[in-house]
Amino acid sequence: YHIDLDLAPQNRWDDLAFHEGAKLKKILQVFKDVLLSFSKYSANIISFVDNNLGQLVDTLPQPYRDELKGLANATNLPLGEVLLYNLFYEVFTVCTSILAEDDRGNLYHARNMDFGLFMGWDSQNSTWLMTEALKDSVVNLKWKKNGQVLFKSVNYVGYIGVFTAMKPGAFSLTVNERFNIDGGYLGILKWLLGYRQSSWLTFITRQVMETARDFHDAYYLLRDKELLAPVYFILGGNQTDQAVVITRSRLEAIDVWHLSMDNSTFYLLETNYDHWSKPPFYDDRRSVGRKCMDGLTKKNVGFLGLFDVLSSKPVLNKLTTYTTLMQVSSGRMESYIQYCQNPCSPW
Ligand SMILES: *[C@@H]1O[C@H](CO)[C@@H](O)[C@H](O)[C@H]1NC(C)=O
Ligand SMILES: *[C@@H]1O[C@H](CO)[C@@H](O)[C@H](O)[C@H]1NC(C)=O
Ligand SMILES: *[C@@H]1O[C@H](CO)[C@@H](O)[C@H](O)[C@H]1NC(C)=O
Ligand SMILES: *[C@@H]1O[C@H](CO)[C@@H](O)[C@H](O)[C@H]1NC(C)=O
Repeated sequence: YHIDLDLAPQNRWDDLAFHEGAKLKKILQVFKDVLLSFSKYSANIISFVDNNLGQLVDTLPQPYRDELKGLANATNLPLGEVLLYNLFYEVFTVCTSILAEDDRGNLYHARNMDFGLFMGWDSQNSTWLMTEALKDSVVNLKWKKNGQVLFKSVNYVGYIGVFTAMKPGAFSLTVNERFNIDGGYLGILKWLLGYRQSSWLTFITRQVMETARDFHDAYYLLRDKELLAPVYFILGGNQTDQAVVITRSRLEAIDVWHLSMDNSTFYLLETNYDHWSKPPFYDDRRSVGRKCMDGLTKKNVGFLGLFDVLSSKPVLNKLTTYTTLMQVSSGRMESYIQYCQNPCSPW
């Protein structure tokens, strides 16, 4: 789908909503069913969201405010639900991202997008209900300005931010959640209480995709903006050595991991834990991912090799919705919906 940034914000999502709105409706229904299965009091929460939460949209900056209103109107869904759906990714997205260089200095960027933990286990099919609904809703977007493609992204229908995107010839960006006590919940709470200095993650990434001209522009924006939630930004450029993982607290970058600073390796692999500390035993996708990358070797870095690494369990797991492969210099970007055959880790 094309998202035309020259259209009025409230109309930008009309075309997508017309063709795919039913998928967003289904996702929201799964979300509500899961909530209701936890507790009967959830009905009160849902009615609060439908009747009151929509007002909160006016605290968001433009153009996101009008885009969300337009989207809710075009899909005929409650604004409060559409808003919550867009903000939800701020707090719970599990992923694996890789930046890697082949032996000729070509840089590649790849990621798995995992989502839906604890959101409705279907014991008959051994799948997560939310994850399955999201798989159906993956779309490729081309964002246009002045009739030109400005950047490309992979989105779930109804999500107006950016988690996986590439500006051909310039840079590529993926976002991984960073779990932290001083995490997204606190940032969101502060927002609700009226502290509005920090940026919603998904809006800052869109701003970067829209405005940054190159790797360096993007790097400084991602490093310095105050955020609502801690996060990892995985950023690749258009030439060799332009590859970083930025570890962010809400306020600042607490670490920048450069590929070029470490001659011993040809890749950076980030899951959801600080690269200098050990991942927890119950979620060690990193060791497996690294083992696969080491086995792949620099010579075999490319779409095929990276796809294989990202299809290795438990890097691939029951939460994985899609795998995306990107090469900035050629402008190539491909995404694949993933399925994890049993036996397969639930996360
Ligand atoms: C909502 O959509 C209808 C068409 O479906 C349009 O006529 C109306 O102007 C829209 N309202 C707003 C507030 O955007
Ligand atoms: C479970 O799997 C069956 C058979 O593949 C399918 O028809 C059904 O829709 C699945 N259930 C869910 C909730 O996805
Ligand atoms: C990389 O981007 C910079 C800045 O936009 C540009 O000057 C340069 O030509 C690009 N290099 C390649 C190899 O595309
Ligand atoms: C990496 O190699 C370059 C030259 O090949 C050298 O200047 C640099 O010091 C090396 N860095 C490390 C961390 O070994």
